[in-house]
Amino acid sequence: MDRQPSPRILMCPPDFYGIEYEINPWMNRDVPSDTALARDQWRGLYEHLCSLGADVQLMTPVAGLPDLVFTANAGLVWHDTVYLATFRHSARQGETPVDREWFETHGFKTVTLPDGMNFEGAGDALFCGDTLFAGYLIRSDAPAMHWLAGQIGCRVIPLQLVDTRFYHLDTCFCPLDPHTAIYYPPAFDDYARRALQQIPKLIPINEIEAIRFGCNAVVIGRHVVTNTGCPELADSLRAAGYEPHETPLDEFLKAGGSAKCLTLRLDGEEAAVWPAG
Ligand code: ARG
Repeated sequence: MDRQPSPRILMCPPDFYGIEYEINPWMNRDVPSDTALARDQWRGLYEHLCSLGADVQLMTPVAGLPDLVFTANAGLVWHDTVYLATFRHSARQGETPVDREWFETHGFKTVTLPDGMNFEGAGDALFCGDTLFAGYLIRSDAPAMHWLAGQIGCRVIPLQLVDTRFYHLDTCFCPLDPHTAIYYPPAFDDYARRALQQIPKLIPINEIEAIRFGCNAVVIGRHVVTNTGCPELADSLRAAGYEPHETPLDEFLKAGGSAKCLTLRLDGEEAAVWPAG
């Protein structure tokens, strides 16, 4: 069996999505998103994930929270517990009460990190096998990652992110299974690049495809869904036994996000890359 039964994913429709502030190098208020196109592209991703067997649940969008659409940042799901984000930028801090309410009304227990620790959810915390790979410096803090690993009882490998274009770990790293991951090497410092070598098969991506957000992929079994414009990555994925899927998401690149950012695994981030059964 090569696929988890009905992966559960959380998405939030882009009704109030837009470029209203600038908190990463992709965002420019002078380059607004096209509302109708963003809606079509979001729906294209949603339908694609449903067609691959995902059970996609929807959060109700909220006016004034344009980045709520990036559900990957809501928190890190571990079984029935969600470690909620503590956003670095005040512009996104209003999302957390909305996320908390959604999780609590859907049967999850929510946990808030200790004061003073920034943590941006699955955007910066991804399991590869039973190890938590954790991006820090630009958005999340390293102590937050150690604290989390202590709570979960897992091994954590903190990875320092050094290129502000790749400000969340999920913009430059994507585990595909317990032994395989996609990554963009220049986004990491030397130590992180060495630490990543313990993953047996690393698929590097080139800069052109990295800035198409090729690493920001949704993995459903052997299916890997990304933005368009990543032909070399698609070849590497096929060679490694995966099936690449492209769906246009340029309107979300304007906010610094793509496929993975628009989703959160509700059956646990680790479910995406743990062997079935
Ligand atoms: N504009 C959002 C921000 O800067 C984009 C978040 C993208 N999410 C992600 N998981 N990489 O926070």
